[in-house]
Amino acid sequence: MENNKLSQYLLKDLAIKDKIIHNRLVLAPMAGLGHIALRQLISEFGGFGLLFTGMCSAKAVPYENPKVSPVFNWRQKELEYLVCQIFGSEPESMAKAAVRIEKEGFFGVDLNFGCSVAAICKKGSGAALLKDPDLSSKIVKSVRESVSIPVFVKFRLGWDNDPQFAVDMARRFEDAGADALTFHPRIAPDRRNRPPLWDVITLVRQAVKIPVFGNGNLFLAEDGIKMIEQTSCHGLSVGRMAVARPWLFAQWTKKFSPGEDIFYTTAVRLAQILLDHYTDHFSVKLFKKFSPYFCANFKFGHHILKKLNRAQTMDDIKNNLDSIFESTPATLLRPNLNLFL
Ligand SMILES: Cc1cc2nc3c(=O)[nH]c(=O)nc-3n(C[C@H](O)[C@H](O)[C@H](O)COP(=O)(O)O)c2cc1C
Repeated sequence: MENNKLSQYLLKDLAIKDKIIHNRLVLAPMAGLGHIALRQLISEFGGFGLLFTGMCSAKAVPYENPKVSPVFNWRQKELEYLVCQIFGSEPESMAKAAVRIEKEGFFGVDLNFGCSVAAICKKGSGAALLKDPDLSSKIVKSVRESVSIPVFVKFRLGWDNDPQFAVDMARRFEDAGADALTFHPRIAPDRRNRPPLWDVITLVRQAVKIPVFGNGNLFLAEDGIKMIEQTSCHGLSVGRMAVARPWLFAQWTKKFSPGEDIFYTTAVRLAQILLDHYTDHFSVKLFKKFSPYFCANFKFGHHILKKLNRAQTMDDIKNNLDSIFESTPATLLRPNLNLFL
């Protein structure tokens, strides 16, 4: 498949429950990275089918005030293509959160069965749920019965390297009423250090009738082509690389060609958008979360990151960006994964 075949594939309609998306390339949920400002930046480039929020606590969602919450917030315009991800461990609270999400007008709700961070797993949420398949089914069923918007499930390989477990879970999720799956083929203790096992995406894809989005280590268009050819997945879910290159969706689907100044203009634009939504202090915090991924684009990214991290205020960040881009830093085609956390 060549690059323009990739865009043709990605731009084919896909039905998710009773809704149709016209683009199968989506932003993966990422806490601390996929916030309202990054999503606005990505939306300005376009080229995606859906965007996912970072995970929101199901217990908190029914009571959140979007005017003050840093995570359960959105622009009205994005709701038609925005899926809100929730984490939790109780069928009732997950269902209650989903009801609020439907009421607010989101495209869909996504249930987190993949997060392996200790703080989340300790509470029995995220990937910990994969240790209790019956409870996992109950959660999906309870959400399904409570809302009519599409219900997505994002999950991992599990806790042991057993592809059959992933296949069984995929069937369970489908039987419980999930409308689409995003599968990240790594075991939970792996975080993101070892390569994802794309072959297991193939097995999951073959096991269910609902759409399966493949996820894990999609960096360049050729990786997207390879994943589609290897796994026959229905769509692609891109995480970290969309932070490093927010124009990636436009590049893969609309043949958008970034110019030489894309790195500078994108970082400056993100800084502006952050300030439109957050205080200076919080904007600095979020910009510093974005920085390692952004710096992974450069040959001497560690050096650039050090410079950016010295900032205390958003003015410092802008000044640092101006000084870094006075000369043109050498870029890398494949990002420096040492900087991807
Ligand atoms: C900083 C960070 C935060 C993440 N937060 C979430 C999350 O809230 N929910 C979730 O399902 N996955 C989360 N993920 C996992 C991503 O959705 C994705 O599965 C993973 O990064 C692999 O995809 P990639 O190689 O395209 O980045 C997170 C990943 C990163 C790097």
